[in-house]
Amino acid sequence: MSKRFYITTAIDYVNGQPHLGHAYEKVIADVIARSRRALGEEVFFLTGLDEHGQKVQQAAQADGKSAQAYCDELAVSWQSFVTKLGLTNDDFIRTTQPRHKEVVQAILTKLHAEGHFYQAPRDGFYSTKEETFVTEKERLPDGTFPASYGEVVQLSETNWYFKLGAHQQWLIDHIEANPAFIQPDYRRNEVLGFLKHNTLEDLCISRPAARLTWGIPIPFDPAYVTYVWFDALVNYISVPAALGDSTVCGATNAQLSLWPADLHVIGKDIIKFHAVYWPIMLKAMNLPLPRQLLVHGWWQKDGEKISKSTGNIVDPVAIIDDWGLDAFRFYVVRELDIGPDGNWTDAGFAARYQAELANGLGNLVNRSLSMLKRYRNGVVPARHDELAPVAAQAAADTVAHLRASELQKALHSLWTLVTRANQYVDQTAPFKLAKDPAQAARLDEVLYNLVESCRVLAVLLNPFIPGTSAKIYAQLNLPGPADQFALAAWGGLPPGQTIGEPAALFPRRDAPKA
Ligand code: MSP
Repeated sequence: MSKRFYITTAIDYVNGQPHLGHAYEKVIADVIARSRRALGEEVFFLTGLDEHGQKVQQAAQADGKSAQAYCDELAVSWQSFVTKLGLTNDDFIRTTQPRHKEVVQAILTKLHAEGHFYQAPRDGFYSTKEETFVTEKERLPDGTFPASYGEVVQLSETNWYFKLGAHQQWLIDHIEANPAFIQPDYRRNEVLGFLKHNTLEDLCISRPAARLTWGIPIPFDPAYVTYVWFDALVNYISVPAALGDSTVCGATNAQLSLWPADLHVIGKDIIKFHAVYWPIMLKAMNLPLPRQLLVHGWWQKDGEKISKSTGNIVDPVAIIDDWGLDAFRFYVVRELDIGPDGNWTDAGFAARYQAELANGLGNLVNRSLSMLKRYRNGVVPARHDELAPVAAQAAADTVAHLRASELQKALHSLWTLVTRANQYVDQTAPFKLAKDPAQAARLDEVLYNLVESCRVLAVLLNPFIPGTSAKIYAQLNLPGPADQFALAAWGGLPPGQTIGEPAALFPRRDAPKA
């Protein structure tokens, strides 16, 4: 039994409908998961829902439903969202599932028994939106708290705390010794800066059941439920535990090896939970730390924060229904590198669709296959290797970038082949060659190079736009799926093969629909 490449996303709060930010994160994780499988690795890809906490309890109350009924209803649409995005997740966690709650309680019991927790009173300010106490340090000059905290109320209550004092230095050492642990580098530096210039406050891991019932009961004190972040982070190991993962369960006859996670894909806003609290929780449990936190930036729309209340949203489902799943997947990965913030504009989306998908890739595949159909009755001529070096370089660079989770760079590399092959059509002018019987051999060469380039592209594009990859393979009349990078080696198209019917992959469109 070998360890699988274990990749996770953040689990989304079920207090509304999915938006662009959620879709982006899930798509990048899916592209990485598919890339790893295409490299021949065994993968386990986990995503899911974070269902507890005050935010969800309040949203359910506002909807006049019990919290469980509210979550159950919304979970259906979130799960269909996963299908809509074409995700290849191996499991879907809901933190209200018994398999998860049991693990959270077992961990709490163990850490309590080992003396990691204590109970103490606290007077302070509390943000429900962020489910956290806010400190005086965070007050703005005008005495208010930053808007990101939402409503801040004064609270006086006794809670359970997790002692963090002993953990600060080893965590700094770990992050310094393992540059890959937090990526990109500037996020790593942010975390290091925070840890070096602040003393960690102990983490409040409980909420009184008197004000919050929607949580996992603290097993050693029924007056409390578990703090939603302590509950949520555990999802990354509760699923492996439920499936019998050897590292998490300590089982000797385990069928599965997942933990430690190879990659936690998360947004920049939740880095502290993943880079500080989660490693400390794991250390206290004597479990290995995840290998990498890959931290992405945030999307805005038209230069403004995406916000339901102002109506400034991008509905990924509407975009997918209108433009197709692959157009959406391609755009988000191509437009925004993993790290910085991005800006969605409908015009930018339409422009990329037209230039890169319709005129770039789509046109290449359509004209290459159509010419083979017209000039050679759809029969693949003898192998010829004129574009082989370009294709080999594109494949090598694409794969190297994918190994490093550099998705945007991988698309750049891949596109060198799209661009070169389109240029090749213009330079070799097969439509002119076809008119001159003396050029028949040259036309064969050109057609082989073009159609084989399309096939190689189908393989390399598979993790990004699997539907398009399948369509190209189907049009070539080849058995799919083209989901192993080994298939990108030049010469995979057998001479004598009769291709199928060419059809536009990305129909040209005038302007985005209103
Ligand atoms: N439930 C927590 C995560 C727990 S993980 C153990 C949470 N949920 S969330 O629904 O608010 O956010 C889920 C993910 O979506 C986060 O990684 C967050 O950064 C990401 N995004 C939310 N809005 C976003 C954008 N506008 N742009 C990009 N990603 C964004 O936090």
